[in-house]
Amino acid sequence: MRAVFLGPPGAGKGTQAKFLEERYKACQVSTGEILRKAVREQTPLGRKAAKHIDKGKLVPDDLMVKLVAERLREEDCKKGFVLDGFPRTKAQADGLEAILRDVGSRLDCVFSIQVPRGIIIQRLAGRRTCKRCGTLYHVLFNPSKREGVCDRCGGELYQRDDDREETITARLDVYETQTAPLTDYYRKQGLLREIDGVGSVEEIRGRLFQALREIEA
Ligand code: AP5
Ligand code: MG
Repeated sequence: MRAVFLGPPGAGKGTQAKFLEERYKACQVSTGEILRKAVREQTPLGRKAAKHIDKGKLVPDDLMVKLVAERLREEDCKKGFVLDGFPRTKAQADGLEAILRDVGSRLDCVFSIQVPRGIIIQRLAGRRTCKRCGTLYHVLFNPSKREGVCDRCGGELYQRDDDREETITARLDVYETQTAPLTDYYRKQGLLREIDGVGSVEEIRGRLFQALREIEA
């Protein structure tokens, strides 16, 4: 499985990508997670990325394409991958095409999860993420058993810095202007599957797996 998840902030890309990772043993590549780790560890990439992430802007394309090119060449991505948060611009989509051409591979499908703005704010405001393993929770919709503690690994749950309201608005604007046009790009290639992202996590998962059955039929 070689798939891409498109969708606005809080659409559920990370939540649903995890299901594909489990089902297909494909590796989930979340560029947001990779960047946040680099910021925490204060690597050169992290220092460059932090100033963009904090404002809700995109990290420059050349850095992102290089990062993904290196990640997809690692052993665990050879059996398949689920890209969550990449590509986000036409330049990144072109970069991905070149990377895949290089390794003699191609995408199987691109899922675009659609969710209206009102719901997004609610989802992001209540999101909690495990510092250790990255598992996602929501204080109302998907709470951990013990507040602040990950069910899977016992790690500490935290709230992302870019989930403040003014940063969310900037991220949504960036999505509309720079990333949303990619849906047309992939529709023209016959790869796009649009998924209605309104409903419970399980309902969206059901729609995703139904789309996969149709692709595989
Ligand atoms: P990134 O980490 O990719 O953030 P994003 O695109 O804004 O998306 P999110 O992770 O916020 O949302 P999601 O769709 O994954 O939703 P989730 O499953 O968590 O990027 C962050 C930043 O890094 C960017 O702003 C940029 O600066 C930089 N960056 C990253 N990639 C880049 C790139 N390629 N180029 C340049 N810059 C890049 O769900 C959200 C919440 O809702 C969770 O709490 C979840 O539990 C809950 N939830 C999920 N589904 C449901 C449901 N159906 N019902 C109820 N609750 C739900
Ligand atoms: Mg995410």
